[in-house]
Amino acid sequence: MERLDKILSSTGRWSRREVKELVRAGRVTVDGVPAQSPEQKADRAGSEIRVDGESISASQYTYLMMNKPAGLVSATEDPREPTVLSLLPGHLRKIGLFPAGRLDKDTVGLLLLTNDGVLAHELLAPKKHVDKTYLVRVEGRFDDADVTAFREGITLADGYACLPAGLELTGPDQALVTLHEGKYHQIKRMCAARGKPVAFLKRLTFGPLALDGNLAPGEWRELTEEEIESLRQNKQKNLNIPIEIDGERRYNIE
Ligand code: URA
Repeated sequence: MERLDKILSSTGRWSRREVKELVRAGRVTVDGVPAQSPEQKADRAGSEIRVDGESISASQYTYLMMNKPAGLVSATEDPREPTVLSLLPGHLRKIGLFPAGRLDKDTVGLLLLTNDGVLAHELLAPKKHVDKTYLVRVEGRFDDADVTAFREGITLADGYACLPAGLELTGPDQALVTLHEGKYHQIKRMCAARGKPVAFLKRLTFGPLALDGNLAPGEWRELTEEEIESLRQNKQKNLNIPIEIDGERRYNIE
C-alpha cells in the first residue's frame, strides 16, 4: 500500500500539490469512494483509482512500443537533436522513460521505452541475448555469398568478428537480418563489409515483441500485459547459436 499522492504523482500527470487539491475538491475516488486525504493508502495494482471519473493506470512502471521515425535520436536528451521522447505527451516525459536499446537516427521501427531499469538491463545484457530482426535495403544486390557470410559471421572493417547472423533475402536488394548481439551500427557495418551500403533499415522485432503494424511512424502505444510478461520471461526461440559471454563464445543450448 502506498500514499495516494505518491501513486498519482508517479503518473507524471499531477504534482503532489495538485493531487492534494484534487482530493480536497472530491475529484479522486478509490474503489468508488471519494478519497479522504492525499496521505490515504491505496494499492497501486489492486485499487481502482479514478480522477474525475477517469480510471488512472498507476502501475509502477510504464512500457511503450514506438514506431520510431527517421530523424530522432534514441536518447532521453540531446544538446542538438530532437529525441524520441519529443513524441510523447508531457506527462510521459516526466516519469523517467528511456529507450531500451538504441536505433540510429536514420533507423526506423520498433523501439521499446520504459522506466523499468531492471527489466531494461536484463534485456540489454549480452548474456540474455535478445534477438532482433531488421528489414534492410542496400545499395547493390544481395547474393547467396552474402547469406553464407552472414551465417558464418562477418568480420568488420575494424577486425571485430560478428556472431553468426541470419540473412533471409526478400528481394534483390532487400533482406531480413536477425542479430544475436548488438554492436554499434552493426548492420550498417556488416553490409558495408560486403560492399553494400545500407539505404534503409527498420527494426521489426525485439525479442518476443513484434512491431505493431497499426502504428504509423511516430506513433506509440502501451505494451499489453501479455507483451510485458513475455519480455519478463524473455521467451526466445531456442536458437543454437553462439553467444558471447565475457568475451568468450559459447553455445546457447538451454
Ligand atoms: N544496426 C545498425 O547499423 N543500426 C541500427 O540502428 C540498428 C542496427
